[in-house]
This record gives sequence, C-alpha cells and structure tokens, in this order.
Amino acid sequence: MTALIIDTDPGVDDAFAIALACSSPEVDLLGVTTVFGNVGLAMTTRNALRVLALYGREDVPVAAGADRPLVYPHPHRARHVHGDDGLSDRSNLLPERRTGVAGTDAVSLMASLLEQAAEPVTIVPIGPLTNIALLLAAHPAVRTKIARIVIMGGALDGGNVTATAEFNIWSDPEAARRVLVEEEVPTVLVPMDLTHRCAVDAEWLDKLAASGPRGRLLVELTSTYREHYSRALGRDGTVIHDAVAMTEAVHPGLLTPTSLPLEVECGHGPSRGMVIADRRGTAARERSGSDGGREVAVATDADLDAVRAFLLARLGS
Ligand code: BDR
Ligand code: CA
Repeated sequence: MTALIIDTDPGVDDAFAIALACSSPEVDLLGVTTVFGNVGLAMTTRNALRVLALYGREDVPVAAGADRPLVYPHPHRARHVHGDDGLSDRSNLLPERRTGVAGTDAVSLMASLLEQAAEPVTIVPIGPLTNIALLLAAHPAVRTKIARIVIMGGALDGGNVTATAEFNIWSDPEAARRVLVEEEVPTVLVPMDLTHRCAVDAEWLDKLAASGPRGRLLVELTSTYREHYSRALGRDGTVIHDAVAMTEAVHPGLLTPTSLPLEVECGHGPSRGMVIADRRGTAARERSGSDGGREVAVATDADLDAVRAFLLARLGS
C-alpha cells in the first residue's frame, strides 16, 4: 500500500488526480490539504470535499492551508482556465460531503498524519507549494516520515503563465525554491512539458464519459477547461496535468525520471517562477566548476499511450 497525502487547489485536473487516488486500490489516502491556486482557498477546499464525496470518502480528513503565497502577494488565479468555481462552473453537479473540514489547518494535519504514520508517506502537491514549504520549515522532524514528494509543476521548455514559468511554481516561487532546491527529501517533479505530451483527445474523453456515472461527471467538469486546452492544443482534447503526476505516485514506472539539479528563479524580472534544470551532464557541470547541488528526479519522458490507458482504466466507473 502507498500511504498518500494530497495537497491540492481543485481545479479540474486536480479533481481528476483526487479521483485517481480514490480509484486506486494500492492507495491508503490519509488526508487532503488545500491551498489557494486555480481559485481562492474557500473554493478549492469546497471542491476537494465535493470530489471526495463523489467517491464516498467521508473518512478522509480535509484541512485548508495557505490562502496566499509566502512572501509576495499576487492576485492572479486561473478562472479563465478552470471557471469561476474552479470546476468549469459545474461544481454543483457534485454531491456535498457530510463531513466538513477537520478542526485544524493543512500544515498541522500533514504534520500529525506524518508523525502517526507507521510507514513513510508519499505527499503529492498539485498546486502552489506554499503548504509544503511551511510544513518542512515548521516541522523539520517529519522529513524522515516522507517517502517521496511527487510534485506537478515547472516547465523545462516554455511555461503556461509566462514565457518561462508554469502556474504552480510561478504562484509561489519562494515556496517552490524551498522545496525543490533547499530540501533533501526524495522528490519527483512532473513538469508540464511531459503532462502536455500526455494530453487526452476527444475519443479518450468520450470513452471516459461512457464508462459510468462518475466518469461522465468527471468529463462534465471539463467543459470550460477543455475549451481552453482545445484552443491551446489546436485540437479537441485536454491536459490533465495533476492526474499525470498522480500516476507517478500511485503506479511508479510509467513515467521516466532523469536526475537533474534544479534552481527556481525568484527574481522579479520576466523569468520569475522559472524552474532551471541543469541538463549539461555531470562532466560538463564539473568542468564549469559547478558543484551541481541537490538533484531532483524530473519526469522527462513516459510511455504516453500506457499513461493514457492507465488513467482511462482507473478513472472509468
Ligand atoms: C497546474 O496549474 C493548475 O492550473 C493545474 O491545476 C495544474 O496543477 C498546471 O500548470
Ligand atoms: Ca492543480
């Protein structure tokens, strides 16, 4: 079993990722924590509760975390991608969960779940990294209880918010730098270069919709999101970034990681929020006198058809 905590800002693709965790028999879902991101914190929290309700998961504790970035506030959200309610303005199609949020905050919930865990836990952050940076800063002793942090974020070759930055990292670069550069916890980064290559097409979405009531609902949640990505891709389809990262967490082996030193640009110029991966290779790095620094496993490739087939098989219900 893989003990899992999801830190999320639902978000249409976050909903797919939570659905994947709920549909994976090898996952022991310990908790879900929420963060600002695609929409504001109140909405991301409400959406997380509703997606869990769709899977009958009244038992999973949910706690809300950061409502803004660590250091510099900024108002940018992604309503034009995910709709005003974060779920293509279709969140009212989902059931309400009877169990509300836990009587604690996201960081405290993660810390206590980790402290109590018998085995190391995988954390899957699929939104801005604010809660995770706060967890590692405030509770350094829990590092040994973390098996891996599997992050959706970053862009090696061109971003989606700016020319260089991907949304999750750009939303809180200082937090991302803490997690990706300053820590030593085993970490996998699933960047948007790869999630885009795993884009699903209309046929895939039709099959999911035909698979059963939950599959149909998931597809209904994509309406605004699918329009956005169909324009971006130039064909009918969508990119379920966070579900690709969740694939690595629940079924390692489909994505291919490359170990790379990373840096996160925290300046205030045009490359703010950029993830810089040093792809020169060890020999070239050493020749230039670089000590390389800490390396992160970056998912640079995958069996793309196998990922799409896996997602369809697991999400179909
Ligand atoms: C990431 O940003 C959000 O809009 C998505 O939910 C995903 O986590 C993709 O850049
Ligand atoms: Ca997300």
